[in-house]
Amino acid sequence: MIKVESVSKNFNGKPAVDHISFHANDQEILVLLGTSGCGKTTTLKMINRLIEADSGNIFIDGKNIRDQKPEELRMGIGFVMQHAGLFPHYTIRQNIAVVPELLKWDKVKTQNRTYELLHKLHLSEDVLSRFPNELSGGQQQRVGIARALIANTPVLLMDEPFGALDNITKADIHSEFKSLEELKNKTIILVTHDVQEAFELGHRICLMDKGKIIQTGTPKEMLYRPQNDFVTDFFAENRLLLEYKIATLKDTGTVLNSELGFNENTSVWDALQKLSSDHKNTLYYENLIKAFNDYRKLQII
Ligand SMILES: Nc1ncnc2c1ncn2[C@@H]1O[C@H](COP(=O)(O)OP(=O)(O)OP(=O)(O)O)[C@@H](O)[C@H]1O
Ligand SMILES: [Mg+2]
Repeated sequence: MIKVESVSKNFNGKPAVDHISFHANDQEILVLLGTSGCGKTTTLKMINRLIEADSGNIFIDGKNIRDQKPEELRMGIGFVMQHAGLFPHYTIRQNIAVVPELLKWDKVKTQNRTYELLHKLHLSEDVLSRFPNELSGGQQQRVGIARALIANTPVLLMDEPFGALDNITKADIHSEFKSLEELKNKTIILVTHDVQEAFELGHRICLMDKGKIIQTGTPKEMLYRPQNDFVTDFFAENRLLLEYKIATLKDTGTVLNSELGFNENTSVWDALQKLSSDHKNTLYYENLIKAFNDYRKLQII
């Protein structure tokens, strides 16, 4: 759906993005992950031509973005800017309605969709009449997400959309985010420097450093098939937690206990959390840890 081919961008003679290539499949969430200044935002902005690439090509749905007018290109792309990027002199209602206004939607349709998204993003209706500076950073970010989702574009680019949220709200929004109906049919590129977020939301991850892509792969490939020491070191700090989170009950070959609400895609981490809250489940808990350890040994060869 999105193909980036050997794209580069220099600022003042210094490479910010250096011959990067990757693709995002239809309906995939691809995460661009890396430390501050590695070129994530520059990469994202080149995809909707907020920044023009110096060289290389970008295709969306087979079409070279250079052959389209930037305004037309952007009509098909929802964009969540880093730090929300809301218009300060517009109310929240007006901010969310920017694209519907361009598309000349009728007022009732815009209003219904606005309320629907507010609800899904845990925002109360009374924010609508306020201005962005009258909201917390995390609330502003959620308005930024609502604004990007409202027109239901096939492509969504999100630059650290959950960056200003505390961990508890973040966990809530992550699980809501994963179950949002409107995301099911989209191709999403999501930028983050948060390793856990990348693992939780990404189908695949592009790990970047100094304007280059170091490795692209599924969360499991990043952990168990690292291409070099940089990749291993990048995930070293959270490694065990990440391993528990990406292993599923199916991976461990554990018998399912549907009474507890588990299915084969439940992560070992979630299952252990639930089992640990009731001493009746001690045996199940211990067996799952054993099964996980056996699975893990087979991966690290
Ligand atoms: N308009 C600009 N003019 C000059 N240099 C720029 C410009 N925009 C970005 N850069 C530089 O390009 C590099 C990549 O910046 P970019 O914003 O893409 O990083 P990032 O990965 O998004 O970082 P962060 O996680 O801090 O948002 C940085 O060294 C930055 O200073
Ligand atoms: Mg950035």
